[in-house]
Amino acid sequence: MHAITAVACGLLALVKAQQPGPVTPEVHPPLTTAKCTTHGGCVVQNTSVVLDFGFRWLHTANYASCTTSTGGLNTTLCANEAACAQNCVVEGANYTAAGVTTSGSSMTMRQYVDASTGGVSSASPRVYLLNSTSQDYVLFQLLGQEFSFDVDVSALPCGENGALYLSEMDASGGRNPYQTGGATYGSGYCDAQCPVETFKNGTLNTSGTGYCCNEMDILESNSLAAAFTPHPCFDNSTNCDKSGCGFNPYSQGYHNYWAPGGTLDTRKPFTVTTQFITNDNTTKGTLSAIKRVYHQGNRTIPSAISGGAGDAISATWCASVDGTAAEFGNLATMGRALERGMVLAFSIWNDNSQFMDWLDQGSNGPCNSTAGNPSLIEATDPTTHVVFSNIKWGDIGSTVAA
Ligand SMILES: *[C@@H]1O[C@H](CO)[C@@H](O)[C@H](O)[C@H]1NC(C)=O
Ligand SMILES: *[C@@H]1O[C@H](CO)[C@@H](O)[C@H](O)[C@H]1NC(C)=O
Ligand SMILES: *[C@@H]1O[C@H](CO)[C@@H](O)[C@H](O)[C@H]1NC(C)=O
Ligand SMILES: *[C@@H]1O[C@H](CO)[C@@H](O)[C@H](O)[C@H]1NC(C)=O
Ligand SMILES: *[C@@H]1O[C@H](CO)[C@@H](O)[C@H](O)[C@H]1NC(C)=O
Ligand SMILES: *[C@@H]1O[C@H](CO)[C@@H](O)[C@H](O)[C@H]1NC(C)=O
Ligand SMILES: *[C@@H]1O[C@H](CO)[C@@H](O)[C@H](O)[C@H]1NC(C)=O
Ligand SMILES: *[C@@H]1O[C@H](CO)[C@@H](O)[C@H](O)[C@H]1NC(C)=O
Ligand SMILES: *[C@@H]1O[C@H](CO)[C@@H](O)[C@H](O)[C@H]1NC(C)=O
Ligand SMILES: *[C@@H]1O[C@H](CO)[C@@H](O)[C@H](O)[C@H]1NC(C)=O
Repeated sequence: MHAITAVACGLLALVKAQQPGPVTPEVHPPLTTAKCTTHGGCVVQNTSVVLDFGFRWLHTANYASCTTSTGGLNTTLCANEAACAQNCVVEGANYTAAGVTTSGSSMTMRQYVDASTGGVSSASPRVYLLNSTSQDYVLFQLLGQEFSFDVDVSALPCGENGALYLSEMDASGGRNPYQTGGATYGSGYCDAQCPVETFKNGTLNTSGTGYCCNEMDILESNSLAAAFTPHPCFDNSTNCDKSGCGFNPYSQGYHNYWAPGGTLDTRKPFTVTTQFITNDNTTKGTLSAIKRVYHQGNRTIPSAISGGAGDAISATWCASVDGTAAEFGNLATMGRALERGMVLAFSIWNDNSQFMDWLDQGSNGPCNSTAGNPSLIEATDPTTHVVFSNIKWGDIGSTVAA
């Protein structure tokens, strides 16, 4: 009975265009957040999360896949947008199976989930924050503002990366007549590494070129190391500062700062506050510093280098540690993107090629060169996960109780 209904709905959907598919309804896990002002306090927002489009099943009316084994689109079924829209539908996500669960203002993301065949399989989810309308992404306009959240990185070993960041995606996810789901189905991803995906802002990838956009990594972390990094792009978004000027306390010589039992004890949750300070303290000025402060228990923990010019990312500091910062407009470019508005992304991932060495190995952290091998993580830490909670944003000083 259910199967018949599903097929009937599928045919209906296919008559229209590339619409949401019939098998799994898309039900966004609710994740409340709060928008704060100095005088009005914090107001709870009924936001939710949506799984990235690339994680979804695209299929024909006969349930044949519209993607190939290498992740690209089947060029027969998707020779052009109109054909793709006629031939293929996109399915809703099973969030538990994708490694994402939420409760109130808290979200847990898992690297591995139970496989139907026994053992585990890598889910490595990436999700975005949807507005209360569930139609568009929340556009975070954080220039001259601050952003706070709680994180529990205790179950992230060497080689894992629990990430919370901003990308300058279109708020609609590039919704168009051929891809009507848009942000509702997690479409439109871009970042400063210029990923090549099946669709670019809702339009078919036929050129094989990536989709670049400004990216602000608020936190990339595990229990052993962490970094926050602006990655500005050219205005025409054909290229970006891929390395960026990351601030990692361990690389700065603070080896017992972000550590289990360290100054910031990564065995327990804590609050991360990031402030985007402008030259004139307004929300229209030039981004002059990205400041960081932590709260754990009842302690306020300043960024690792407190005092001098070192307690924040400044344009001068970026230029000194990142040879390409100036070429991409440095903090000023990042600030304009923060002013226009960016989409909030969350992910958990590991890395088969470099084992996340840029985050936690050598001068960046205490992990050895093999600890981050995903097959080792899968064998020794199959329950590895990260918890993000209590997301708040607004005026400087408004998101953390005094
Ligand atoms: C969020 O939902 C709750 C419960 O439905 C409602 O009381 C509240 O007003 C909503 N908040 C906003 C900002 O719409
Ligand atoms: C593309 O789809 C067609 C029709 O379903 C199928 O015959 C063909 O084998 C597919 N090609 C690839 C490379 O998957
Ligand atoms: C979603 O996936 C979970 C775990 O794999 C499974 O137990 C559950 O039945 C699935 N839900 C639906 C609606 O298919
Ligand atoms: C959601 O979108 C509506 C309409 O565009 C807007 O008024 C509201 O401020 C948005 N809320 C958030 C949390 O972005
Ligand atoms: C993305 O798509 C939307 C909706 O079609 C469009 O308004 C916007 O200009 C596009 N953005 C870019 C950078 O192509
Ligand atoms: C993007 O387009 C190129 C050229 O058509 C193709 O080779 C590649 O597989 C596509 N990638 C994805 C992820 O669709
Ligand atoms: C993009 O902008 C950069 C710097 O402004 C310029 O050098 C480059 O030629 C531009 N590329 C395109 C394709 O317009
Ligand atoms: C901005 O605010 C800071 C901290 O309150 C203050 O020290 C500084 O003088 C202000 N700068 C301007 C240009 O108003
Ligand atoms: C707060 O600090 C006091 C001492 O200043 C300490 O006794 C108490 O345990 C702390 N509370 C927490 C939750 O850390
Ligand atoms: C590297 O670290 C992993 C995980 O902590 C450990 O299992 C392994 O023995 C270490 N290898 C070496 C060569 O020290």
